[in-house]
Amino acid sequence: MPFSQPNPLHEGLSSRPLPKPCNVVIFGASGDLTYRKLIPALYNIEADGDLPASTQITGFARRQKTDESFREELGEAISKFSRSGKNEEVWNAFSNRIHYHCSEFGSEEGYRKLAEKLDRFDAEHGSGGNRLFYLSVSPAEFEGILGKLQQFGLSKAKDGCWARVIVEKPFGKNRQTAHELNEKVQRVFDEEDTYRIDHYLGKETAQNIMVLRFANAIFEPLWNHKYIDHVQITAAEPMGVEGRGPYYDSSGALRDMVQNHLTQILCLVAMEPPTDLSADSIRDEKVKVVRSFRHMTPEDVRKNVVRAQYGAGSSAGKDVPEYRAEDRVDPNSKTETYVAMKVHVDNWRWAGVPFYIRVGKRMPKHCAEVAVFFKETPGVLFNTEQAGLGPNVLVIRIQPDEGISLQMHSKRPGAQLAIESVKMDFQYGTSFGKPSPEAYERLLLDAMAGDATLFARRDEVDHAWAFIDGIEHAWHEAPDPQEIATYPSGSWGPKEADDLLAADGRAWRRL
Ligand code: BG6
Repeated sequence: MPFSQPNPLHEGLSSRPLPKPCNVVIFGASGDLTYRKLIPALYNIEADGDLPASTQITGFARRQKTDESFREELGEAISKFSRSGKNEEVWNAFSNRIHYHCSEFGSEEGYRKLAEKLDRFDAEHGSGGNRLFYLSVSPAEFEGILGKLQQFGLSKAKDGCWARVIVEKPFGKNRQTAHELNEKVQRVFDEEDTYRIDHYLGKETAQNIMVLRFANAIFEPLWNHKYIDHVQITAAEPMGVEGRGPYYDSSGALRDMVQNHLTQILCLVAMEPPTDLSADSIRDEKVKVVRSFRHMTPEDVRKNVVRAQYGAGSSAGKDVPEYRAEDRVDPNSKTETYVAMKVHVDNWRWAGVPFYIRVGKRMPKHCAEVAVFFKETPGVLFNTEQAGLGPNVLVIRIQPDEGISLQMHSKRPGAQLAIESVKMDFQYGTSFGKPSPEAYERLLLDAMAGDATLFARRDEVDHAWAFIDGIEHAWHEAPDPQEIATYPSGSWGPKEADDLLAADGRAWRRL
């Protein structure tokens, strides 16, 4: 395209469908996710003027509440958790769209009344017959809810309308249970109407990985084993299990974060350019990456994976207990709250390039990033044994302080030839002058628009589990399993994780 022509992408991709008015029904509406994420996200979509007119939101849960008391609680949640704060005018308009539906998940009467209610909203508000069901409940409830949606005709879209389901993680506990869950969902909803949410994919910087790679000419020629030494992907958080003891203790960091969020980020970094920007073309390429993960034997797991649990320590200046003393956690638990591992992607592009992943709770700060370490310059001229310049590192900061920086070497001003590391830095906040939307905003809008690009497809989930299952097997079923290490709360993890990289002559990036 000649340079003088305007770039149509500046106004947004014309191919992206517009979100459609619909009835959003949140199952498990009295849970934390609704208060902290879902309602604040929908509120901010409204505040930005993007919530399709006449969209109605119904919370479905067991606790006794009225529309008014539900709205009042959500109003407080908006004050606490909305990224843009609470504007009374926007809130008044938005809160009128919110309704509460009190019912047991298994009550036929509850679904019959829900169906009537949604039809009534369609007639009164013109919400158009489209239905978006959000399952923010434990997977044990899925089958019952899905069965009832089917029985009462709610999962079947009326003519010219659609019915979709958003499924929260955990999506299974292993390959087998994920398969069973998929079967249950797909008895009721087709794959194209099933949206498996992975909120990391909705983060602005995660979405920017593809743009960085494929909209710039300078990175892609270097993006392979010839020029890249290794990649580090980190997701750290200072929080502990925060009242989620029973779920977390039966899950652990590998299932909670690596199987989904970190795998998705790795795929975006490692995938081949897709044929086009359609959801399936992009997901086809991501699946190929997961299929190329080198599966590990118990012996490989021992060498390449470190699991650890936090001990007592401090977080944000306060003393915090060890993991085993957390509420509703087994006092003898062997569940990991930290994982560091080396992953090999066995394909042409990445042969011999390790991807190191680390994820942990009770770390010193909340941050997630991808660091691409390039190969060093030859050991002559400036990069001699004495000087040891170190590599160029491209850092993609997923959160916080979203942006990208490139570390390189430069001559310090003056008569001496002294070389220092400097950074070229791009920050979303300063370049675009406004905060990025929350991941859930983008994902809810995409589900209303029928764009599944940022949702996990069935085969992605399946292959990711196949890889993770081998590690879980080595930890819990193979003879002579590796001991779980510990690390003090507020530290960057156990020594074993440093040893993992040191054995390869590398070190974790300091964050
Ligand atoms: C969730 C995990 O999916 O992601 C939590 O279940 C974790 O354990 C959270 O705390 C981290 O998300 P974020 O966006 O805060 O990095």
